Amino acid sequence: MRTVEWDYGRNLVKMIDQRQLPGVFEVAEFSDYHGVAMSIREMYIRGAPAIGAAAAFGMALAARQSNASNRAALLNDLDTAAQILRATRPTAVNLFWGIERMLRAAKDENLTRVDDIRQAVLVEAQQLADEDVEINQRMARHGAALVKEGDTILHHCNTGSLATVDWGTALGVIRMANEQGKNIHVLLDETRPRLQGASLSAWECEQYNIPYTLIVDNAAGHYMRTGQVDIVFVGSDRTAANGDVANKIGTYKLGVVARENGIPFFPVVPTSTVDLTLPTGDDIPIEERDSAEVTDLTLFGRPVVPKGAKVGNPAFDVTPYKYVTGIVTEHSVVYPPYSINLRRAVEEEQAKIGKK
Ligand code: MRU
Repeated sequence: MRTVEWDYGRNLVKMIDQRQLPGVFEVAEFSDYHGVAMSIREMYIRGAPAIGAAAAFGMALAARQSNASNRAALLNDLDTAAQILRATRPTAVNLFWGIERMLRAAKDENLTRVDDIRQAVLVEAQQLADEDVEINQRMARHGAALVKEGDTILHHCNTGSLATVDWGTALGVIRMANEQGKNIHVLLDETRPRLQGASLSAWECEQYNIPYTLIVDNAAGHYMRTGQVDIVFVGSDRTAANGDVANKIGTYKLGVVARENGIPFFPVVPTSTVDLTLPTGDDIPIEERDSAEVTDLTLFGRPVVPKGAKVGNPAFDVTPYKYVTGIVTEHSVVYPPYSINLRRAVEEEQAKIGKK
């Protein structure tokens, strides 16, 4: 199944509960948009495009749940739902983008009957989800063209099917290169503290028969300095207009070390993840997560961290554009100057959606 989808028989949202992987494959179901909000906050679902699609389906649920009998009351209920869904996580811009897109569909002035508005939001959510898969496959083809026969690829966090509706961003590129028979090998950062690399990316590599080696985050620099990495692919949660890339904590170090060692560093970023309203990455809000993600750690069955330890737990960091070799989008691989070329790619893709 897709990471998140609408069940048309039962009118509810289904999603893979990623907290249980790789041990258990469990599907969570929500018939209330508050449940979808909780699932985003608690990381049943995570990864920027997946969060955007979940929020879009959450809005479709909110439209169904509302018992408003006129347009104004329904739009009011949708605004309330939008506020609740927006408050779940701050960094991934797809969350806000998906919600805004649903509100635009609902507010279409040609729609006056409440049932038509409800239907329009669901149709738009489904379209957003379907587009995500198609966009990821286009990015994968652009990105795979950068991979050479026998390359070793360094990857951070999870950016595969589970981080999107299906197929993935950076891991989607890797999957495509593998399917093209390029004889690749992947070094997977385990990605402390939530270990998305160890639990989710490794699980996906198993599913798609992608040869991989799991490494601790701190080993990435060693592999790069000793000539064991040919190219780095990462995802993004929000990319600013100047090409600064916010992604899972630890990405910045990879960008700097890659540059130092002459290794190409490519974020794989659907245009829905580019925030042209932000001139630089300094304006991207960085989520600070619960200290328990760092302290509730055992090694060989014993607690690691002393009680009372003070913890800093930023979930994302920003890699300045000067470390970014190019940005793989569904439009093309975009190269500097990003402030011109990234804007052009985003606007040309937005125009295509507008025409559909
Ligand atoms: O905290 P998460 O697991 O939602 O963070 C996910 C990432 O940082 C991914 O690398 C990112 O969303 C881009 S790839 C879809």
